[in-house]
Order: sequence, then structure tokens, then C-alpha cells
Amino acid sequence: MEIKELISEENIKEKIKQIANNIQNDFNNEEIVLICVLKGAVFFATELAKNISSPLILDFTKVSSYKGTQSTGIIHFDLNISTDIKDKNVIVVEDIIDTGRTLSYLKSYLEEKKPKSLKLCTLLDKKERREFDLESDYVCFNIPDKFVIGYGLDYDEKYRNLPYIGYIE
Ligand code: IMP
Ligand code: MG
Repeated sequence: MEIKELISEENIKEKIKQIANNIQNDFNNEEIVLICVLKGAVFFATELAKNISSPLILDFTKVSSYKGTQSTGIIHFDLNISTDIKDKNVIVVEDIIDTGRTLSYLKSYLEEKKPKSLKLCTLLDKKERREFDLESDYVCFNIPDKFVIGYGLDYDEKYRNLPYIGYIE
């Protein structure tokens, strides 16, 4: 299997810094609850968190809808957050929006908990694949309809540890 580089490690780091600055400015140093969607967003969320100097709570959830390279269409909700997000500024951090199924599900679930604000932040966006009416508030990179791996993204649980974003030919 040949892996081609799509986005370099340097470009990822630089872009995350910019997005972190935007977030900090938008929230005026108010406290933020950053919710990392496991497992794919783990590298992105930690890098983002390190670049935000506002008071920040880091939490995790595990929701997935993928097996292999095909969306199963079934949502698995495996781990819930442990923070009370009522009246808090919440940012959900995800690796990629594809059809939008995972994030629309998660968004409506979290909205029921009445946060002060709820924003979505994604490392990647595959806009042309969208099936659900959903936009991410903060996007690092828009990408074409290719199956990508690395920087947290997997192919059957492997390749998450690649330091860059690649695609399989
Ligand atoms: P959605 O629910 O269809 O938006 O899919 C989002 C989820 O599918 C992400 O959290 C990823 O885990 C997975 N996914 C979508 N596209 C890719 C890809 O190109 N590579 C690896 N995982 C992907
Ligand atoms: Mg995922």
C-alpha cells in the first residue's frame, strides 16, 4: 500500500496555531470546554489545547460511525463526557467531517445539555461528501474526496501515528 503525503506536519502545526488564535480571540479569554472526539481527534485536540491560553477544560467522548473505509451509517456512542457543560462555552474537536452524521448526532446530544455556546472545530473537511446539513465553525483544511490517514486518522485502526496527513492510492 502506497501512502502519499497530502498535508505536511509543519503545515498542520502552523494551521492549528492560527485556529487556536482565532478561537482565543472569539472567546475573549472566557473559559472553554474542549471536547475531543476519540480516537481520531486526539493529536489535533492536544495540539490545539496547547496553543490556547484561555482557561480551558479538556474532556473526551467517543462517538463513531465508521468501519474500514465505508461509513456504516450506525452511530456508536461509547464514552460520555464527565464535565457539566450547562452555561459553558463548548467546542467539539473532531478529526474530519465527511457525511456529517457523527457531528450532527453529537451536536444535538450536547445541545440538550444547554451550553452557553456550542461550536465545532475540525482538522479536515470533505465538503463534497456532506449528507447532513452541518458546517464546522473552525476548519483547518478543506480536502478533496480522498480517504486520508495520519495525524489521528486511521485505516482499520492503523496509521494514526503518522505525523502528517496522507492518502492511500
Ligand atoms: P461522518 O460521520 O460521515 O461525518 O464521518 C466522520 C468520521 O468518519 C470521522 O470521525 C472519521 O473517523 C471517519 N472518516 C471519514 N473520512 C475519513 C477518512 O478519509 N479517513 C479516516 N477516517 C475518516
Ligand atoms: Mg473518528
